[in-house]
Amino acid sequence: MTAAQPTARIAATGRFLPDRVLTNKELEQMVDTTEEWILERTGIVERRIAPAEMGVTEMGARAAQRALAKAEIDARDIDLLIVTTATPDRWLPSTSCEIQARIGAIGKSAAFDLHAACTGFLYALTMAEGHVAGGRADTVLVVAAEKMTSIIDWDDRSTCILFGDGAGAAIVQRSENGEGILASHHRSDGNFADLLERPAGGAANPLDAEALRAKDHLMKMSGREIFKLAVRRMAGAGRQVLRDAGLKGEDVDLLVPHQANIRIIESTARYSRIPMEKVFVNLNRYGNMSSASIPVALDEAVEQGLVGPGSVVLTAAFGAGLTWGAMALRW
Ligand code: ACO
Repeated sequence: MTAAQPTARIAATGRFLPDRVLTNKELEQMVDTTEEWILERTGIVERRIAPAEMGVTEMGARAAQRALAKAEIDARDIDLLIVTTATPDRWLPSTSCEIQARIGAIGKSAAFDLHAACTGFLYALTMAEGHVAGGRADTVLVVAAEKMTSIIDWDDRSTCILFGDGAGAAIVQRSENGEGILASHHRSDGNFADLLERPAGGAANPLDAEALRAKDHLMKMSGREIFKLAVRRMAGAGRQVLRDAGLKGEDVDLLVPHQANIRIIESTARYSRIPMEKVFVNLNRYGNMSSASIPVALDEAVEQGLVGPGSVVLTAAFGAGLTWGAMALRW
């Protein structure tokens, strides 16, 4: 979709990362793996682990409060709160309503959850843009919060090394001086749904003793297949938004890709003709935080001065579903 003139912008971002660090060295003691294998095959050195008593409501609320403080916005002025998570604290009610209460965004706000796995944050930004453009909201809060360690099988060496916990947030408001979302592109293909799933615990396959024994309530992933699909889909979406925004690879100041695997990031950058010096990577410190990866990366990039007024940012993601997408923004 083309946006000739941006209607919505990110006014501020925020993040929250739990303190506890789980290193590759520690994982060596837990499963049959080595520090070297993890670093070489994924680029991950360590990841954050939320304490047992901390769920996505708390992590998401803290990221949201930091974004609100930066934008100097009172939580009561939020018109809409969208939360993306694949790991809700409970199935009912929505995590967005829990975060709404936790931050005091009560008054005029509506709140709902959006589930598009790792692509969730980009899907939610586009949803926020639509509400702002349509005049239904002045201020939308988007929160992406994930406790991936709560759905990991700690005996499965091919998945437990990849994921971490964290939350990111963004305030979306009307564009003022031509800054904001230039173009976005979202797709999904449910034919690949079985490549990354939690088979049990839902309506079709409720949790019972047999499911628990088989660990069917935890994440199962076909990593190699996802890897191949991810590069093609993310790079294709990135190229599409650059075309829609009338931009070339060299116009991009920073590529902020989903942080799943350094080899996926490098291939995506190569396909998009963007040198690695212009690619933001924090995967080494946090692993894959699903939908929270991109907002945490954006917040760090702004803080480090890599993104500032006028910067052109390209961001791209893929995840379970499969879902994928990209967005070009002028900061
Ligand atoms: N340590 C040592 N060996 C391992 C480990 C490990 N932690 N994990 C797997 N291996 C072994 C495998 O058993 C296999 O051994 P074999 O050849 O004897 O069978 C060998 O290493 C190679 O396995 P591959 O799966 O081919 O390894 P690959 O290079 O593809 O790396 C990985 C695996 C890291 C999972 C990679 O495929 C990947 O990153 N895929 C993308 C996954 C992803 O991003 N998923 C998230 C989607 S986002 C979302 O929605 C949550």
